[in-house]
Amino acid sequence: MQSSPVPVPTTQRAIVQGSAGQPTIAENIPIPTLRPGTLLIKTVAVALNPSDNKMGAAFPCPGAVIGMDFAGQIVDMKPAEGAETPDPDFRVGDMVCGVVHGSNPGDPTTGSLAEYVRAPADLVLRVPEGFPLEQAAALGTPLLTSCVALWSSLAITAMPESPLAKPAPVLVYGGSTTCGTMAIQLLKTIGYDPVATCSSRNFDMVKSYGASAVFDYTSNDLGRNIKTHTGGRLRHALDCIADQASTTCCYASLGRPGGRYAYLESSPKEWKTREAVKPDFALAYEAFGREVKLDGEYGRPASPAKHEMAVKVFRSFQKLLDEGKVRAHPTEVVGHGFESIIEGLRKLKSGAVSGKRLVVWIE
Ligand SMILES: NC(=O)c1ccc[n+]([C@@H]2O[C@H](COP(=O)([O-])OP(=O)(O)OC[C@H]3O[C@@H](n4cnc5c(N)ncnc54)[C@H](OP(=O)(O)O)[C@@H]3O)[C@@H](O)[C@H]2O)c1
Repeated sequence: MQSSPVPVPTTQRAIVQGSAGQPTIAENIPIPTLRPGTLLIKTVAVALNPSDNKMGAAFPCPGAVIGMDFAGQIVDMKPAEGAETPDPDFRVGDMVCGVVHGSNPGDPTTGSLAEYVRAPADLVLRVPEGFPLEQAAALGTPLLTSCVALWSSLAITAMPESPLAKPAPVLVYGGSTTCGTMAIQLLKTIGYDPVATCSSRNFDMVKSYGASAVFDYTSNDLGRNIKTHTGGRLRHALDCIADQASTTCCYASLGRPGGRYAYLESSPKEWKTREAVKPDFALAYEAFGREVKLDGEYGRPASPAKHEMAVKVFRSFQKLLDEGKVRAHPTEVVGHGFESIIEGLRKLKSGAVSGKRLVVWIE
């Protein structure tokens, strides 16, 4: 039996896209209604992502709720069709964290920068006792992104329960990004040897997440040096930056037989210069299992397989989290409430944030 839902107001404050897609505070917008297999969560802390600025600018959808990441308390739930309880077995009152597809023209009421968020139960994590909520808020997006990048784009099959017998190198370009530190930890957990690039001020931080070697991305001959360091054995590169320099470096680092290249932002075909390397633009949104209704390279058909894979990885990750084997990217709390979110998003857009995820308390 589930505990009774907590009384919930009918309207809320949230950050929505303004007329040109820019983040704007909205008053009195409806609380999202539950759908089968979803939880209604009262947000306590939210983490800010580059996409919270970028998606509205690229694909404006005025009124769409913005935001991916959240931590908070379950106030209501609706089990999937034919089920009596949600899967995993959550209860009203549980503290959880996760990720939703915010700024979504295909579903504008979903977004985490709000007092209440509706999230798919199967992509929600239980926050372990004593785990700081501001850190829990920063887990969802990098985890979901890593699911798609590692287990789909790079076609990795090892899991924490069945790691590689012999470590193989993987390059994580942009190791000091939030996605980078998550991918590094996951790769380490499944038996790979993560090698990373970042600026020298973040060397120690990136090593502390499990990178065995770090290279300054401003250094000369970066690709060649990484290729030498990995003895020509590199077959997988994850590019969390996806500019021309990072693409060139990843392509030059991969050994002579080539391999797979996963990148996190749309980039020109001309940068991908080797036939032997298979590139794939990893898009976290695909892991929700629904059609991604965006234009160009961002539009994707529904992928039940990617959703199933992500659910499996989230279950494994919950165990790692419970056992204290994984942690969030370093967080910086930038304030309380929706005005602080607008401030935080401005700071993020300015490029002034290095090696940190900005977090805002909602209550
Ligand atoms: N495709 C998807 O589904 C998906 C999902 C999530 C994120 N993303 C995208 O992936 C990227 C990373 O996101 P994130 O949230 O993980 O980033 P983040 O935590 O905000 O990344 C900040 C870090 O980026 C590094 N950086 C910035 N410009 C760089 C450059 N030109 N070369 C090398 N490093 C640079 C900086 O490293 P240093 O301080 O060490 O210099 C900084 O610490 C963003 O573009 C984001 O939009 C895509």
